[in-house]
Amino acid sequence: MNAMDLIKGRHSCRAYLPDVPSREQVLAAVELASTAASSKNTQPWMLHVAVGPSCDRVREALLQAFDTAAPAKADFKYSPAELPAQLTDRARQSGIAILAHKGIGRDDKDARRAHDRENFRLFGAPGVAVLTLPTESERGNFLDAGQFLATFMLGLREVGLESIPMFSVANYPGVLREGLSIAGDRIVVCAVAFGVEDHGAPVNSFRTMRESPEALVAWA
Ligand SMILES: Cc1cc2nc3c(=O)[nH]c(=O)nc-3n(C[C@H](O)[C@H](O)[C@H](O)COP(=O)(O)O)c2cc1C
Repeated sequence: MNAMDLIKGRHSCRAYLPDVPSREQVLAAVELASTAASSKNTQPWMLHVAVGPSCDRVREALLQAFDTAAPAKADFKYSPAELPAQLTDRARQSGIAILAHKGIGRDDKDARRAHDRENFRLFGAPGVAVLTLPTESERGNFLDAGQFLATFMLGLREVGLESIPMFSVANYPGVLREGLSIAGDRIVVCAVAFGVEDHGAPVNSFRTMRESPEALVAWA
């Protein structure tokens, strides 16, 4: 696939076929991801991967945590309690849009909970990768990790797989640490659920809006 199609065709995939990705596919995606830039070439990232039955075990543990309302606390704060209004608006719009796409009414609490629960079911993906950094990492290292994450998702596309980055499940770092044998000296940054896209699932035709290039540039 050419680079344009690889980049422009990526979207967060929220329904998967059961086909289990191979180690070769994952390693090919990681090889592409490993080309990401990092400050001083520190390459601070690490991926902890589970596919097939071991992914299912992680899924079950996450679902149990969600269903029992286990205390949730991520290893770091993703964003401030109050975002600038423009960002809050975009987040609200995209939340409204996906619920509308799925035909879920704003007051339908059960359907909204089921929608949230899909995160902890890893959207049915047969593979999950958890991105970690050394515990002492600072903001710059997270910047590096983001580049790796973005390139990894493109690498997955190159081998026929789609994905969704997930912070929701990083709210249960203990579950991920146990399920993927992640050492205590690593911060859980986020997870990526991945697999073959189920093109027949209506949720996968959902697309998000983007600002125009003009709105994203301040010229001097
Ligand atoms: C670090 C990160 C964490 C995310 N966590 C979640 C998540 O937990 N659940 C979810 O449904 N989407 C999650 N997303 C996906 C975003 O909602 C999605 O990227 C955004 O709406 C743009 O849509 P697109 O990926 O389809 O282009 C996450 C994205 C990023 C980059």
